[in-house]
Amino acid sequence: MNASEPDLHPLCHARDLLDGGEACPFDVRYQGQTCRAFAVRWRGRVHAYLNRCSHVAMEMDWRPNHFFDLTGQHLVCASHGALFQPDTGRCVGGPGRGPLVAIDVQERDGVVFWRSQYDLKPVEF
Ligand code: FES
Repeated sequence: MNASEPDLHPLCHARDLLDGGEACPFDVRYQGQTCRAFAVRWRGRVHAYLNRCSHVAMEMDWRPNHFFDLTGQHLVCASHGALFQPDTGRCVGGPGRGPLVAIDVQERDGVVFWRSQYDLKPVEF
């Protein structure tokens, strides 16, 4: 944890997230439940979401940590094919019922951090 900003949590090295490539998974407490989450890089910027489809609350990766469709332009849910905009989480196709739950991220000095908020906390071990 970053002592000067306790709501920022280190996630991975920035170089580990390749544009349109494999995601970095992490766990969060969201509204009191432990949930999977993921971060991806798209068009140079890092974006993170709960790994929970807006159609049915299921994890979305079609192989572990693979979320992009074959075009590399959308995040796709493996269950029924809902498509989401990688930079906003907005549903743009398929049976999704709204956007993905976004998690604020920052890149700083070669490290990606995610930011906790009132309903989104780190998992306590
Ligand atoms: S659970 Fe994701 S499209 Fe149905």
